[in-house]
Amino acid sequence: MSRILVTGGSGFIGSAVCRHIIAETPHTCINADKLTYAANPASLASIEADPRYRFHRIDIADGPAIAHLMDAEDIDCVIHLAAESHVDRSIDQPAAFITSNIDGTYCLLEAARARMQRLEGGRRDAFRFIHVSTDEVFGSLGSEGAFTPTSPYDPSSPYAASKAASDHLARAWQRTYGLAVIVTNCCNNYGPCQFPEKLIPLTIISALAERPLPVYGKGENVRGWLYVEDHARALMMVLEGGRKGATYLIGGRAEDRNIEMVRRICAVMDDLKPRPGGRPYADLIGFVTDRPGHNLRYAIDPTLIETELGWAPSHDFASGLKTTVEWYLANRAWWEPLQERVYDGRRLGLGGTAP
Ligand code: NAD
Ligand code: TYD
Repeated sequence: MSRILVTGGSGFIGSAVCRHIIAETPHTCINADKLTYAANPASLASIEADPRYRFHRIDIADGPAIAHLMDAEDIDCVIHLAAESHVDRSIDQPAAFITSNIDGTYCLLEAARARMQRLEGGRRDAFRFIHVSTDEVFGSLGSEGAFTPTSPYDPSSPYAASKAASDHLARAWQRTYGLAVIVTNCCNNYGPCQFPEKLIPLTIISALAERPLPVYGKGENVRGWLYVEDHARALMMVLEGGRKGATYLIGGRAEDRNIEMVRRICAVMDDLKPRPGGRPYADLIGFVTDRPGHNLRYAIDPTLIETELGWAPSHDFASGLKTTVEWYLANRAWWEPLQERVYDGRRLGLGGTAP
């Protein structure tokens, strides 16, 4: 049984990882999260009283605090998810992306290095640092092909560039200091508890409010989509069976053009919660000014994690989207306060003037 430090465990994917650890494994889960606008402690309500779950409000860029935490909580391994994660916000205000994603990862790597050195014997050999990243570090594909673990880095947005920098730091700490790092790069996630600035929850919530559904550009951009619980399970498999120094790309071989994805969501909502008056939700779709630097297409080749670790997704678009829409319909108390307090659905990411 391990004591797993999950950074960013109060966010969308991190909370799914924490819930997975408590529900599906015998391990202890220590969540370290700064609680930025994107965090929602309500995502952890089902596990917060569990004796194997613990929470610490902490900024990963606070090196001494994170180093102290690793010893105080007797940490065996790290799953590092804490980051600023929204591309549009990185276009408007990149500073926090540099601080949390680059400086924060540096501080965490240093704390993990010191922690691993203090462990002895089998615990030291078993120490792992799983660095959770994105396919966006590879930049845009054309109409053919898929990213592999050896694809060159070519990030476009400030978010992607900050994640690329953090991937390079993580690999350098492995090669230089022998820290047992494994890097994962995943496609777009969706599912319960995703902050409603991202395409899928924003579409669901805007549709419910009869607001326009903005599709950037012509909606031709392609993204790979993975149900968040499939990602959480993949990360645990990487932690338990992945090779030190390896890179695993995680994706469900499920790509879609944005316009098709928004239409799919509208169709699911037509079934589950028909509009008053009976018009289809797709009538609310409108094309808006494109995102600056908008990458055309992402696609993941997950062969390595499939063949080496035996991972495969258990949700497809049909089941995953239905479950997701049902969750947002049933959990207004999770997202309504966010609309009032944090984000009201307005357009982000058009840039603006530099400071
Ligand atoms: P999120 O924005 O929902 O959550 C991020 C969490 O990190 C929040 O709880 C926030 O409070 C915390 N955090 C941010 N800065 C911090 C800091 N300095 N110290 C401590 N905590 C901090 O993000 P997410 O969508 O859950 O993404 C999690 C990770 O997975 C990120 O590293 C992201 O790059 C990566 N990723 C996300 C996707 C996706 O589709 N969402 C896909 C691939 C990879
Ligand atoms: P998003 O959920 O922001 O994730 P990412 O930028 O990390 O891929 O956006 C997914 C895709 O949807 C992306 O191509 C941008 C597009 N998009 C829209 O068309 N309309 C929207 O309102 C948003 C938020 C995104």
